[in-house]
Amino acid sequence: MHGANDSAFIVCVNLRGAHRQTCGSVGGEAVAQALQDEMAERGVNFEIRKFRCLGRDCSLGPNVRLAPSGDVAHGVDPQNVGGLVDQLLQQQKESGADPEVYVGICPVE
Ligand code: FES
Repeated sequence: MHGANDSAFIVCVNLRGAHRQTCGSVGGEAVAQALQDEMAERGVNFEIRKFRCLGRDCSLGPNVRLAPSGDVAHGVDPQNVGGLVDQLLQQQKESGADPEVYVGICPVE
């Protein structure tokens, strides 16, 4: 059963496509890494699921689907993934769930 806490980035990293562009051939893995880095920097933690094709718009990649809304972003630039993190945080906020946040340890003097 899926709930609000199942928010995730579904990143296509498909490299298989002899005669057509695939997300992996135009930076899918770099997008996945950039999302991971952006979340670590902000202290938020969504799951990143790597897929071998989202089934459509392959020529528009790198493609990233936001779960559970199903919104798909095309042509994602790994240098500019902050907007996707904002979008998923907003969706989670609207769903009423608290985003999972890394708990930092405050220095004690
Ligand atoms: S190759 Fe990425 S959506 Fe199909």
